[in-house]
Amino acid sequence: MSEYHYIDVKNLVKNYDTGKVKVNAVDHVSFCVDQGEFIGIMGASGSGKSTILNILAAIDTMSEGQVFYDGTDISGMDEEELANFRRKNLGFVFQDYNLLDTLSIEENIMIPMTLGSQEMSMARLKEEIDSRRPVPEPLSIIPS
Ligand SMILES: Nc1ncnc2c1ncn2[C@@H]1O[C@H](COP(=O)(O)OP(=O)(O)OP(=O)(O)O)[C@@H](O)[C@H]1O
Ligand SMILES: [Mg+2]
Repeated sequence: MSEYHYIDVKNLVKNYDTGKVKVNAVDHVSFCVDQGEFIGIMGASGSGKSTILNILAAIDTMSEGQVFYDGTDISGMDEEELANFRRKNLGFVFQDYNLLDTLSIEENIMIPMTLGSQEMSMARLKEEIDSRRPVPEPLSIIPS
């Protein structure tokens, strides 16, 4: 049995097939991340960083290989299973935020809760956010 890691990426391959051109964006990449570890991915433009992050974030699917989160293999999941896994387990800060600009910051944070099972009450979530915010800024502002 192989050693346990919180995130375990094994032989990850991603091919984009756009009809005429086939792009091999990720070519058998393996790495692991342990709990509490912070990592950065460096590489030339077009080397596949965003592709790897999108697959790790369960936003995109892989062509080959396996990705384990705390022992759970997400490589065999269909779109609906990936969406559920993503909602329950993952957070993703996009470079351009991807917030809904007609909603306040607070409402943006609440969206996943209104979609999923309400495991945490709204009041409890507010407490949680307040306890983690380094600067007391109003959550009611609309992102620009
Ligand atoms: N949706 C797509 N369809 C076809 N090819 C794609 C698609 N997305 C990415 N690629 C190709 O896959 C390769 C890896 O792209 P990716 O965006 O992952 O690189 P990157 O390392 O994030 O680059 P950058 O530093 O510019 O953000 C590139 O050759 C890119 O053109
Ligand atoms: Mg990128």
